[in-house]
Amino acid sequence: MSILVTGGSGFIGSNFILEWINKEDELVINLDKLTYAGNNYNLSSIENNNKYLFKQGDIANSYLVAEILKEYKPKYIVNFAAESHVDRSINNPDAFIKTNINGTFSLLNSIKDYWLSLKEIEKTSFRFLHISTDEVFGTLNLNDPPFTEESCYKPNNPYSASKASSDHLVRSFNKTYNLPVLTTNCSNNYGPYQFPEKLIPLVINNALERKRLPIYGDGLQIRDWLYVKDHCRAIRKVLQLGVIGETYNIGGNNEKTNIELVKVICNLLDEFKPLKKNKEINYYEELIEYVQDRPGHDRRYVIDSSKIQQDLGWNPSETFESGIKKTVLWYLSNLDWVDNVKNANYLNWVEKHYKS
Ligand code: NAD
Ligand code: DAU
Repeated sequence: MSILVTGGSGFIGSNFILEWINKEDELVINLDKLTYAGNNYNLSSIENNNKYLFKQGDIANSYLVAEILKEYKPKYIVNFAAESHVDRSINNPDAFIKTNINGTFSLLNSIKDYWLSLKEIEKTSFRFLHISTDEVFGTLNLNDPPFTEESCYKPNNPYSASKASSDHLVRSFNKTYNLPVLTTNCSNNYGPYQFPEKLIPLVINNALERKRLPIYGDGLQIRDWLYVKDHCRAIRKVLQLGVIGETYNIGGNNEKTNIELVKVICNLLDEFKPLKKNKEINYYEELIEYVQDRPGHDRRYVIDSSKIQQDLGWNPSETFESGIKKTVLWYLSNLDWVDNVKNANYLNWVEKHYKS
């Protein structure tokens, strides 16, 4: 028995694999292209584990995907593989179209052929779970109710538009070919192994290097933060108990403005990595700098998770306070990981994107 995880060398995928290997018996095959955002340092603790197998490759490589499916016969496939950074999608959308739309389409085609070849009993238990985002629903005003599974798709940037397209393709493979698919739409994740171009690890890393902490626009944009391990538990629930063809919204019920969040991180750094003997002084906050806003910047995302809570019995176990503290402490104890993943592509991005 095995499961196939795509994009397992990135942030959420690696957290998911580490947890799965810890709790389940199946062999996990990780198919990852190893873009600038993926790396095997995240999974170095299991590289010699006989329940883990790494294959480098593209989800759009139908020959390779067919070979893997034929050889390992996975009962579940979880698709994390994607280009995931909104700012990069604004700068250069091509890779987002290639992987998130064409790649997902190619993967679905390969999986359909594999699924049709299975025996009836295997066909019945097989699941394809597509990991998507709350960004497909667009943006909310301050008084709007949270996104539900019924909210309309209104993506506002090339990343979210490409994810929305992939969600539609996944849905269509269920409606047209009966492929047993599930989709999850999750809010902003944070926690260990997040690549340091996203807000939380970027701020921690910059603060430790005494660099400015860039806040886009007025910093009052709101995100709904979820600790990554809670997301991974939700994915396991959906795989094991979710109803075929359904979508599940996943969120942390933690609305924070960006400026509020960055100040919390600064306060934790003041406590755990004080720069002055007097811990009362808010040294890190002095590094905050307001910079040019992201074009088309979504103002607010919030998720209504009541469906997954009621139907599948999932609830987040971390509060924002406990999760963000764990996260800051993880980065402080894993400075070598941060140094290892800051590849040339990353350094080039940071230099160009924040040059002004
Ligand atoms: P990430 O950028 O950290 O990791 C993506 C991984 O996919 C990398 O390891 C990369 O090498 C791999 N990859 C990219 N293109 C590939 C291809 N063509 N073939 C095979 N592998 C490829 O992303 P993440 O933050 O871990 O997000 C994982 C998934 O979850 C994405 O689909 C994203 O849209 C979704 N999501 C992320 C968040 C979040 O807050 N990070 C929230 C909701 C949903
Ligand atoms: O909502 C889910 C989405 O969350 C996922 O689908 C994406 O893959 C994931 O990257 C994340 O998207 P965001 O754009 O919300 O994440 P990011 O960390 O890039 O930015 C979080 C907020 O912080 C956003 O409002 C933009 C702002 N920001 C970001 C950076 C990098 C800043 O103010 N300054 C920055 O330098």
